Amino acid sequence: MGEIGVGIIGTGFMGACHALAFTAVGPVFQPTLRPRLEMVADIDEVAAQRARARFGFARATGDWRALVADPAVELVSITAPNVWHKGMALAAIGAGKHVYCEKPLSLTIAESRAMVDAARTNKIVFQTEGQFSTSRSNDGLVSEFLYLTIPYSKFQKLVASKEFSLKMGEKKYDLTDEQLQAVRSMTTYVK
Ligand SMILES: NC(=O)c1ccc[n+]([C@@H]2O[C@H](COP(=O)([O-])OP(=O)(O)OC[C@H]3O[C@@H](n4cnc5c(N)ncnc54)[C@H](O)[C@@H]3O)[C@@H](O)[C@H]2O)c1
Repeated sequence: MGEIGVGIIGTGFMGACHALAFTAVGPVFQPTLRPRLEMVADIDEVAAQRARARFGFARATGDWRALVADPAVELVSITAPNVWHKGMALAAIGAGKHVYCEKPLSLTIAESRAMVDAARTNKIVFQTEGQFSTSRSNDGLVSEFLYLTIPYSKFQKLVASKEFSLKMGEKKYDLTDEQLQAVRSMTTYVK
């Protein structure tokens, strides 16, 4: 059974969620490649050390660049504030690491494109949260969703409704008008 060394940047709410999720992946899904909590980074080094002890990371650092450069870290999970996403992702991609980046992916579409392009060039796995793609839009301009936000109350209603066909893990999604109206914001590729 293989392992993949995980490095998480950020030890706030989502950092804790990611650490718990990576810990659960092995026993729940029993994949051939199991995540190993290798290193955690936070600008607040005390917080990083606290997270190391709390979640069982092998090491902690106050310098995210040290985490990205570490050979035992093969996947970098970015849960720092949005303003850092692009710089951290590009550094990790440049170092040949696979990247999971929290949403919103970046501050602008241009930044997101740069991240996606770098990931393609470096042939690494690059993932963000809530990726939906669709062949349909009201004006025909949207070719692919990078990221969209649906208020939780509306999402619950949509999941309960029979027309709701959006499913995680599928390649394409045809959103109904009702679903499109529920979307609060989106970051997209534009043709
Ligand atoms: N909280 C949520 O429900 C939620 C849901 C989805 C996505 N997100 C996204 O997750 C990301 C983090 O959100 P959060 O709620 O966990 O924030 P948070 O403020 O709880 O945690 C952010 C952490 O990043 C650390 N940090 C800040 N600058 C850093 C740097 N330069 N280097 C290393 N660490 C640094 C902070 O010290 C803090 O521990 C954001 O992009 C956010 O949009 C949050």
